[in-house]
Amino acid sequence: MSTPEASGNTAAASSHSSAVMQPSPSNGKLGIMIPGMGAVATTLIAGVEAVRRGFAKPIGSLTQMATIRLGKRTDNNTPRIKDFVPLAGLDDLVFTGWDIFGGNLYTAAKTAGVLERDHLEQMRPFLESIEPMPAAFDQHYVKRLTGTRIKTGRSKCDLAQQIRSDIQEFKQKTDRQVMIWCGSTEIFLQPTAVHQTLAAFEKGLTDDDPSIAPSQIYAYAALKEGIPFVNGAPNLTVDIPAMIELSKKMNAPICGKDFKTGQTFLKTVLAPAFKARMLGVSGWYSTNILGNRDGEVLDDPESFKTKEESKLGVLDILQPELYPDLYKDIYHKVKINYYPPRGDNKEGWDNIDIFGWLGYPMQLKIDFLCRDSILAAPLALDLVLFLDMAARTPSLRGLGIQEWLSFYFKAPQHAEGLYPEHDLFIQLMKLKNTLRHVMGEDLITHLGLEYYNE
Ligand SMILES: NC(=O)c1ccc[n+]([C@@H]2O[C@H](COP(=O)([O-])OP(=O)(O)OC[C@H]3O[C@@H](n4cnc5c(N)ncnc54)[C@H](O)[C@@H]3O)[C@@H](O)[C@H]2O)c1
Repeated sequence: MSTPEASGNTAAASSHSSAVMQPSPSNGKLGIMIPGMGAVATTLIAGVEAVRRGFAKPIGSLTQMATIRLGKRTDNNTPRIKDFVPLAGLDDLVFTGWDIFGGNLYTAAKTAGVLERDHLEQMRPFLESIEPMPAAFDQHYVKRLTGTRIKTGRSKCDLAQQIRSDIQEFKQKTDRQVMIWCGSTEIFLQPTAVHQTLAAFEKGLTDDDPSIAPSQIYAYAALKEGIPFVNGAPNLTVDIPAMIELSKKMNAPICGKDFKTGQTFLKTVLAPAFKARMLGVSGWYSTNILGNRDGEVLDDPESFKTKEESKLGVLDILQPELYPDLYKDIYHKVKINYYPPRGDNKEGWDNIDIFGWLGYPMQLKIDFLCRDSILAAPLALDLVLFLDMAARTPSLRGLGIQEWLSFYFKAPQHAEGLYPEHDLFIQLMKLKNTLRHVMGEDLITHLGLEYYNE
């Protein structure tokens, strides 16, 4: 366990530290429960094991590699985040999960085709030791998949009970738990009456309401068990009043949705840059080729619609209502094409039409040859570690949505009446200031006048 004392930061703690209830220590084992053990999940688990065994560095993970500045620039006090806040250590992580396909995680990782053979063989015994439990699944919600290991039940309520039993069993082996959805993208669902209150939702489970998707059965089961829930997909899942109510009631934090990994990650860097310089944007055309199972699922128009909504929202950053001369007529298009030869190695192209002084047009082209799950795995790691910390933090755990984790999401969950914050660097500042806040440190505003005042 790392504390400010352990990292020698006590002296830097500000005067208001005594008023803040810091996160409680991270003692014992943290159980990570994953519905959907495909490419992202297996890359996360194999990667954690590789880091634990010293084969690799946790590149891409803020919790493992990033630092946080405390105090003034002249104080030279920048501990690593993991030495500043009490996060679970990688050695204390234990993994389990559910999938609709049988076999152990070595087989699943091989099917996913993300990691190279040598890497996989090094991790083979560990991956073979984990076998997903049978899933709560209904093909109506993911048309392109036909499962082989699926729970049967009298109703959705019965399925939720079965997931709760799985969780209760895992609770015997671990001290705390976090659930992270790494399952497929479900068909596009909009909130209905059944999603509005916890009572209506629970009745809907008993009545087998079609508006309740499998991902919501897992999320409900987790929250009922007091377990925080991360939504890595663009599914509606916990983005409904009933789940927010349950999350607050159980002090089990939630966050989502849809990992912000490749094209959208870059979009939330570039769009704020154009806006910062008051450059106009007339069009943004984004297309992708992708050949993994996620790509196959997204080839179904109903699942693609869910992803499309999540990807389209980010250009709200440009605030056309405030800057109609620059952004009112922007044409934004996003496409994903299933192209098996590329597997998990996605290629994302962007053509951006911008205009500058006197309206003169310019263009920018991006060709991002990325690796989907290599980008997603460290995000998933950070999210489970931070959400577990949130559950141990008195000022965070009862809030429901953890908006300070927006940094990780394409469509950040936010309180009603707020607009989501998409700008990557505002999101990062928010995240770091939240960490400073919960540890009783002064927030950093970047004002900096004190350096020039005698
Ligand atoms: N960069 C990325 O990889 C990235 C970025 C953002 C979001 N996502 C999202 O993360 C999710 C996982 O992506 P992936 O590449 O690992 O996909 P994947 O297809 O390799 O894995 C998803 C797994 O979920 C399983 N599944 C589906 N429904 C289930 C259910 N009801 N219960 C249990 N298991 C279920 C599938 O059988 C599959 O093994 C997808 O929704 C994807 O859109 C991925």
